[in-house]
Amino acid sequence: MSLCLCLPLLSQAQNVEKSANDIEYPKNLTNWRVIGTSNRTDNNTQRVILGNALAIKAARSQNANINWPKGAILAKLVWKNDTLKTWQAATVPGEFVHAEIMLRDSQKYASTSGWGYARWTGLDLKPHSQDSKAAEACNSCHQAAKITDYVFTIPAKLP
Ligand code: HEC
Repeated sequence: MSLCLCLPLLSQAQNVEKSANDIEYPKNLTNWRVIGTSNRTDNNTQRVILGNALAIKAARSQNANINWPKGAILAKLVWKNDTLKTWQAATVPGEFVHAEIMLRDSQKYASTSGWGYARWTGLDLKPHSQDSKAAEACNSCHQAAKITDYVFTIPAKLP
């Protein structure tokens, strides 16, 4: 019997189903390091952008044009904005919305600009779409970031 009465932390998600386009949810994603954060005023959500080891190495390479190597994965975790009860001016992560990844493989994902895209919804990480072509919509919007290899996030400056 489990004695854990903990909150349903994201890292407890297990046996997550693959996306319809056959992308696995990276098992240790919640231990990845941060590349950036963002706050969207149009839909009142905040995000952290994480990278696996290959992505972190590339993001911290100091090159103006980041060269994302094969196997680099960028992840984005999204929460609704909430207000800290003890300090109203602080906007903090509330309800968890979804996790998304971009996986670099120029050959395998040539049809979506060299990135494999997938999204899982809610703390139980249900594959967002049953449509194996869902990544085309992701790729289509990410064309706006073509100049930075389809990645919007600029790594946050670190001391
Ligand atoms: C309507 C436009 C749009 C669509 C559709 C879209 N994205 Fe994005 N995506 C963005 C923007 C803008 C950002 C950067 C701002 C932010 O953090 O939300 C972003 C950021 C990301 C990031 C962090 C890396 C980066 O590029 O900054 C990932 C990972 C990501 N998206 C995955 C996906 C996946 C997977 C899908 C499809 C299920 C998707 N996106 C669909 C606009 C879009």
